[in-house]
Amino acid sequence: MSDFKRTILITGGAGFIGSHVVRLFVDKYPDYHIINIDKLTYAGNLENLKDIEGRPNYSFEKLDVCDFDSIHALMLREHADGVIHLAAESHVDRSIKDPFTFARTNVMGTLSMLQAAKLYWESLPEKWAGKRFYHISTDEVYGALEITRPEGTKGNEEAGGGPFGDDFFTETRKYQPHSPYSASKASSDHFVRAFHDTYGMPTIVTNCSNNYGPYQFPEKLIPLFINNIRHRKPLPVYGRGENVRDWLYVEDHARAIDLIFHKGTTGDTYNIGGFNEWKNIDLIKVLIRVTDRILGRAEGSDEDLITYVTDRPGHDMRYAIDSGKLSRELGWKPSLQFEEGIEKTVRWYLDNQEWMDRVTSGDYQKYYDSMYKNR
Ligand code: NAD
Ligand code: TYD
Repeated sequence: MSDFKRTILITGGAGFIGSHVVRLFVDKYPDYHIINIDKLTYAGNLENLKDIEGRPNYSFEKLDVCDFDSIHALMLREHADGVIHLAAESHVDRSIKDPFTFARTNVMGTLSMLQAAKLYWESLPEKWAGKRFYHISTDEVYGALEITRPEGTKGNEEAGGGPFGDDFFTETRKYQPHSPYSASKASSDHFVRAFHDTYGMPTIVTNCSNNYGPYQFPEKLIPLFINNIRHRKPLPVYGRGENVRDWLYVEDHARAIDLIFHKGTTGDTYNIGGFNEWKNIDLIKVLIRVTDRILGRAEGSDEDLITYVTDRPGHDMRYAIDSGKLSRELGWKPSLQFEEGIEKTVRWYLDNQEWMDRVTSGDYQKYYDSMYKNR
């Protein structure tokens, strides 16, 4: 047996959110063994975790979550007692072009993780005791909300309203996914709940809004646009830029995951969000102003890079998460104001141009071979 108090498998740890979760757990819990399982698809970048490489409580396993036999064998060998499952295909635009990969990884991969954990944990004398399977999901499973508040009018935020309407996604909202990405995540959420309801497996699901912050792959809005502003390249705004998203700083999401993993109620669902809705075009103008200022350009001068392009098919109009349950029951709230989070994020991408260059050139994919191939 190992000397560690717990062994936790974190899948998708080389990705954007996963790397923040792995770093938080490795730093905060020296008595846990954290095993990062990642296939290293285009979105997996082990350089995101360079700073914790070599820590005694951290290991990496290059594995596909769909590879049931290897995952099951790893659980047995390492005596895994917790799973935090983040591995997924995560980009809506890719899901529109290639839905099969999304069904495979997000649906079959989740099922394979569930089944491997079930078989291993059921084989132990103590069975489910002390075990936890935590599945990370998205608010996009709930579908889309309308914008009901006219431009320029103010919402009654004290009474729980939002700037674009009073309707929010709560945990009891009906699932109504529209994109192949959200359909695959919805399906995976249902499998996780089915394992709880059918076998009594100790599961938890959380559904979070759009994350932003360091180490996000630059195909997503915020890192893509910061990089394009820096290089004075066009900023492709889908449709009229009217769509609304709720944005949360990634480290606040990682803190919520830590809290829920340890204190959340088995079988429950928690929504995680920032109560921070932005219309895309307004958010983009903030990004331009902040980036211009940091680069010493006239603030707003790069607005001429904004280029309206054909809208995303089936583009969900508005996402807005009600994370009241999480704050009432577990006392969580976002720690960063949006202005602060955006400033930190823009500075991080501008200060880490080498990270960005290695991602855009593809060199980041050589890191695994240089570090692990001959071990
Ligand atoms: P990401 O695309 O940055 O990272 C995904 C990671 O999963 C990558 O490291 C990739 O290599 C790995 N992966 C993909 N397929 C795999 C497979 N078959 N086997 C093993 N590893 C595989 O994604 P992200 O933005 O960090 O999202 C992480 C999770 O959080 C996802 O489940 C996503 O649905 C969810 N989520 C994301 C957001 C967001 O705003 N990014 C919001 C809410 C929920
Ligand atoms: P994205 O970061 O892809 O997240 P999601 O689609 O999961 O919400 O996109 C955020 C919003 O920005 C979404 O409304 C689509 C829009 N968008 C653009 O207008 N242009 C772009 O180039 C991208 C990537 C996104």
